[in-house]
Amino acid sequence: MSTPSVKRIGVLTSGGDAPGMNAAIRAVVRACIYEDIECIGIRRGYNGLINQDIKKMEEGDVAHIINRGGTVLYSARSMEFMTPEGQQRAVDTCKLLGLQGIVGIGGDGTFRGLQALSHYGINVVGIPGTIDNDIGCSEYTIGYDTAANTAVENIDKLRDTMQSHERCSIVEVMGHTAGHLALYVGLATGATAVLVPERPVDFQHDVIEKIQNARIAGRTHYMIIVAEGAGSAQSYGEKLKEALNLDVRVTVLGHVQRGGTPSARDRVAATRMGDRAVELLASGKTNRIICVKNGKVSDVDMEEGLAMKRGLYTQDLRVLDTMTGI
Ligand code: F6P
Repeated sequence: MSTPSVKRIGVLTSGGDAPGMNAAIRAVVRACIYEDIECIGIRRGYNGLINQDIKKMEEGDVAHIINRGGTVLYSARSMEFMTPEGQQRAVDTCKLLGLQGIVGIGGDGTFRGLQALSHYGINVVGIPGTIDNDIGCSEYTIGYDTAANTAVENIDKLRDTMQSHERCSIVEVMGHTAGHLALYVGLATGATAVLVPERPVDFQHDVIEKIQNARIAGRTHYMIIVAEGAGSAQSYGEKLKEALNLDVRVTVLGHVQRGGTPSARDRVAATRMGDRAVELLASGKTNRIICVKNGKVSDVDMEEGLAMKRGLYTQDLRVLDTMTGI
């Protein structure tokens, strides 16, 4: 149970939404009820904190949302919160409402916002929620599994039609500046080639030769996955058409990857992380990022966590080379 001093905390979602954010909100609210802490939902990310866009969260507010994509608290990227005036207004709201802690669910930008609040003496805990899986201190971020499955499902459909028409498909997947999603999806779909920002692209070797090898091995359709951070699928498509005179179709999967029913993995990760966040605040801990370490939910100091970098798994890059080597 909570230390007597923690009576009321706030929860917000910020940045790009991710499937499973609702499950995390639910977990925070239910853990607060268990700890006898009042939970205030802050709508529209840091804008809500600035504008006092709030709602007291009761058990009923989080009923039937564990399975819903998006975020019932809405999300935003707040420009105003980047300014000292905006931050001061957010802090004023925390003081006015008597919020003794804030749980922020989102990515790197969300955590930097929490860090700013902590400089004003507010207790903060961050929960990694982004389809990009690009938080350096955590092996996993809420939404990644669902987004990967959405991408795989759609690429499988593309493959059917590419096969019928003996075409080459170039599919751009999200991931911001990281290639985690693209690499994972590429392995899951048996792609001909995968381009990620972490490895400089050698078009001749990474695309042309892979397609040539695949053709010699008997393939008549090809699937190229491009992480958005590795360049535009459209321009790779044009280059490819010119180089090999193939019938190329470009698909940018886009925001479809951010929606949909969260997978069991995302719901459980979100539930564990939400509970841990409240447990930390209830016991007087602050400036923590919830993370997954060696497969288990853990937490790390916010400053240290934000400084941590995690590249692609080198073993997966080898697997990619092996599987696309032919
Ligand atoms: O961080 C999540 C993400 O979907 C990235 O993969 C992508 O680069 C970005 O957000 C898109 O942002 P917006 O929703 O502003 O288009």
